[in-house]
Amino acid sequence: MEDVAAALKQTVWYQLYLVGGRDCALSAIERAKAAGFSALVVTIDTPVAGMRERDIRNGVKELLGDNFVSKLPFVSQLLIKPSWFARFLADGGLMKFQNVVIPGKGPMLYTDVTAALEDSVVSWGDLKWIQRAGGGPIVIKGVHTADDARRAVDVGAKALVVSNHGGRQLDNVAPTLRILPEVVASVGDHIEVLLDGGIRRGSDIIKALCLGARAVMVGRAYAYGLGAAGGAGVARAIEILRADLIRTLKLLGCPSVAELDQSYIDVAADWSVVRSASGSC
Ligand SMILES: Cc1cc2nc3c(=O)[nH]c(=O)nc-3n(C[C@H](O)[C@H](O)[C@H](O)COP(=O)(O)O)c2cc1C
Repeated sequence: MEDVAAALKQTVWYQLYLVGGRDCALSAIERAKAAGFSALVVTIDTPVAGMRERDIRNGVKELLGDNFVSKLPFVSQLLIKPSWFARFLADGGLMKFQNVVIPGKGPMLYTDVTAALEDSVVSWGDLKWIQRAGGGPIVIKGVHTADDARRAVDVGAKALVVSNHGGRQLDNVAPTLRILPEVVASVGDHIEVLLDGGIRRGSDIIKALCLGARAVMVGRAYAYGLGAAGGAGVARAIEILRADLIRTLKLLGCPSVAELDQSYIDVAADWSVVRSASGSC
C-alpha cells in the first residue's frame, strides 16, 4: 500500500465524466495523458444533475436560455454587479468545456451539460475500457456504500473517494463521515480510502483520518478562496486547513497524523461498524 500512496501523491489527477459518449471520453483520456495527468478520477454519482434549488431561485435556466423575456426578472442580479458582469463578458461570457470535445462539434457548451449528464451512463463494466485507455491508476469518486466499495476493489481501482458530491446530488443521503467506517471495514487494505464533503477545518480532516480515511479532498473550501482572491486565495484556504490541522494535533497531544486512530474521538455507540472496522485495521 505504501507504494500506491506514494504514486498517488506524486500524480496529477484528471477527473473524468462520461459525458459526450465513449469516443469523447477516449480522446479526453489521451489528451490528459499527453498533458501529464497520470491518475484518472472517475466520478460515478452524477447520472443526472441533482436538484439545485438555488439555481432555480436565481433563474439559472432562464438566464442561460434563448428567451429574452424570461430573463428579465433576473437581470437585476447582473446589473447590481456591473464590474463582475463586465469582466464576465470580457472573459467571453458563458464558458465552454474545453476538456469535453464532442466529435464533429467541438467543446461542449455550458448550456448543454445538464442534458449531456442525463444522457451519460457509467456502469462498472465501463471501468475496464477506461482503465485500459488510461493505463494508470483509477480512482473511483462517489462511493457511498460498502457494496460499491467492494466493487471498486474488484475492478482494480487503486483508490476510492467516499463522497456524496458535497450533498449536491442524491437528497437525504448520510454524511460521508458516517459512511466512512463501513466502507473502511468492507475493503480493509485492498484500496486507498479517501473522503470528501464538508471539510472546512483541520479538525474535520482529523475526524476523517481517525475513522480510517487515508486522506481527504476539499471542494468548496478551496473554491471560496479562489472566489475571494484567485490563486493566492486557494493557497490561503489550504494554509488555513493546514494550520488548524496542526493546532488540533497539538491540542490532542498527538505527534503526527500517522498516529491518529479512533481513540482520539468519541464515536456514537450505534456506529457498530466502527468497532468492527477497528478490529480489522
Ligand atoms: C460548484 C461545484 C462543482 C463541482 N463539480 C464537480 C465535478 O465536475 N466533478 C466532480 O466529480 N465533483 C464535482 N463537485 C463535487 C466536489 O468534487 C466534491 O465532491 C464536493 O464539493 C465535496 O464537498 P465540499 O464542497 O463540502 O468539500 C463539485 C462541487 C461544487 C461545489
